[in-house]
Amino acid sequence: MAKVSQDITREAQFLRDSLNHHNHRYHVLDDPEIADAEYDALFDRLRSLEQAHPELLSDDSPTQRVGASALSEFSKVTHVLPMLSLDKSTSAQDINDWVKRCAGRLPAGAQVTYTCEPKIDGVAIALTYEDGVLVQAATRGDGQIGENILANVRTIGAIPLTLIGQNFPKKFEVRGEIYISLEDFDAFNVRALEKGAKPLINPRNGAAGSLRQLDSKVTASRPLTMFCYSLGWTEGDWAPVSQMEVLTALEGWGFRINPLVEVVADSEGCMAYIDNLLQQRSSLGYEIDGVVVKVNSLEQQNLLGAVTRKPRWAIAYKYPAEEATTQLLNVEFQVGRTGAITPVARLAPVFVGGVTVTNATLHNMDEISRLGLHVGDRVMIRRAGDVIPQVASVILSQRPGDAYAIELPTQCPSCGSPIHRPDGEVVARCSASRNYCPAQRKESLRHFASRLAFDIDGLGDKIIEQLVVEDLVKDPADLFQLEAEQISGLERMGQKSAENLLNALEKAKQTTFPRFIYSLGIREVGEATALSLAQYFQTLQGLREATKESLECVDDVGPVVADSLFEYFQGEENLAVIARLEACGVQWPSMPAVDVQTLPLAGEVWVLTGTLELLSRNEAKAHLVTLGAKVAGSVSAKTTKVVAGPGAGSKLEKAQQLELVILEESELISVLKEHGVDVSG
Ligand code: IVH
Repeated sequence: MAKVSQDITREAQFLRDSLNHHNHRYHVLDDPEIADAEYDALFDRLRSLEQAHPELLSDDSPTQRVGASALSEFSKVTHVLPMLSLDKSTSAQDINDWVKRCAGRLPAGAQVTYTCEPKIDGVAIALTYEDGVLVQAATRGDGQIGENILANVRTIGAIPLTLIGQNFPKKFEVRGEIYISLEDFDAFNVRALEKGAKPLINPRNGAAGSLRQLDSKVTASRPLTMFCYSLGWTEGDWAPVSQMEVLTALEGWGFRINPLVEVVADSEGCMAYIDNLLQQRSSLGYEIDGVVVKVNSLEQQNLLGAVTRKPRWAIAYKYPAEEATTQLLNVEFQVGRTGAITPVARLAPVFVGGVTVTNATLHNMDEISRLGLHVGDRVMIRRAGDVIPQVASVILSQRPGDAYAIELPTQCPSCGSPIHRPDGEVVARCSASRNYCPAQRKESLRHFASRLAFDIDGLGDKIIEQLVVEDLVKDPADLFQLEAEQISGLERMGQKSAENLLNALEKAKQTTFPRFIYSLGIREVGEATALSLAQYFQTLQGLREATKESLECVDDVGPVVADSLFEYFQGEENLAVIARLEACGVQWPSMPAVDVQTLPLAGEVWVLTGTLELLSRNEAKAHLVTLGAKVAGSVSAKTTKVVAGPGAGSKLEKAQQLELVILEESELISVLKEHGVDVSG
């Protein structure tokens, strides 16, 4: 065979180095320098060189991340250093005791500092590098013997196949946690459901299952990533002195390190970190189950040593679990403001993520079928961040003999009218009008009084409930006709609170046109759409008389929303309520005439992804719409700008691929302020 020319060898090496560099920028630093298409071009060039000259091929080539053939089993690996587990703590007292125990075992007067690190809820892994090349990836197994899942781990972009930088030890082991971010998890499941494939149960389970695949092509299709958190062992003469030095060195060699690691001086410092991270837990974008506190000095770690498979120099502080099992006692069907019927799980009380949960949303009948849920089942409840608890899965093996299937009722539980679920629609609805069905009436009033609508102080759920039950209020206009005696006659309402409520109602009559539209509770019309409608039509008469075609001219309004608006303004009852609201003095200043085309962000399409920390998503959206932008739910070639907060995943990746402008939340706020928006967040 002809010898490969020096030029080609050099080009292949150059391509491998460039691809490794760009891979690191993308997956580890989250800061790519080139577009995906350019990366692909480099990749294709290297692959064609390797195909033409197979002797150029090496295992650590970026083209070799996905293995060619599936394995029949994983080989066993004996850990050079056992993979230990950690002692657990759950209180300040526990941490204090541990700090004291450490001090007691170290020479008198020893200065001790501690690293505090998020405890990532994923799968532990030990990576071995030899001469800078990844040669083994072992699971924890029983701590002594694990399995070599190298072929799968090589598919993970955040894990370097070859190290960057210099001075890494000749041979060493790095440990860390492989996980799936929450946004990637959601996006993966949305796609899986669309394709009719099985969704992942939860991020940790998804990560573990993905790593256990014998065919690495399957693993490659899963959105895995990794944070490295310690050194296993080293061969060579590198002698770091602290955990922090280790992490900094690892970062320099291309590993992904959690940015939230901090060094603290004492147990108060540990607790401040622990409390602070708990506050941030729901906005991290990945799941953590606590904090790992480690003695920072490696010499002191050595002196402290380990007992029965647990190091004395580290401790895990466990946050309350966000998952727990309980029994599904019943499913009730709630009726929303537009008549939508939502099944709600009533659960045997269970402590999850720091609160006692007794209810969980089930969304709709399709979700019940997807879960295969029966009343009486033992279920896994999840509460990620601040979101409403969800039923994650059914524990089929524990289904009691008397468990029974859940059926959509045929009659509205509130008014007894028939329930309809049109073919092809996910949502079932009460067929009665909202003025007839008490549940719809209550929900409409609640919506009408809510903060973004009429914002009526003192008109809470309990009072609305009584006003409806006593038949004092049938629709929002009736609220403004209430008399002091009627209100003070209600339970827990004295004369003073009746007066306050009347004053609040009087004050609420002065509103704005967008708020008024939003308050009507028209199906599919949220506050951003209400704002677009108000800007476009300027007057109530204009909106009331709009045709479907003219409605569709408004940003944010497609055929479904246009239909819903059109139908609403055809309803005699609806028009009568609006007329009475106007008659009793509800009013708003005329909308400033704006030509939407002249607004500063006219023509721009924005996408918000990841967690926003300073503004709520709705606020951000409403501000952008006010400035003339459209806010879309997914990234496409039409998108102009993407705001990416922590935890942004596939939308951000797509935006990077398309080379869109990507902003942080603080930059969004600057843009808003620049255009005169009063951002209080
Ligand atoms: S240090 C001696 N640091 O938590 C044990 N572990 O029981 C050294 N984990 O399964 C572990 N985040 O995989 C350490 N920042 C972190 C961690 C972490 C998650 C996992 C680890 C192990 C378990 C410890």
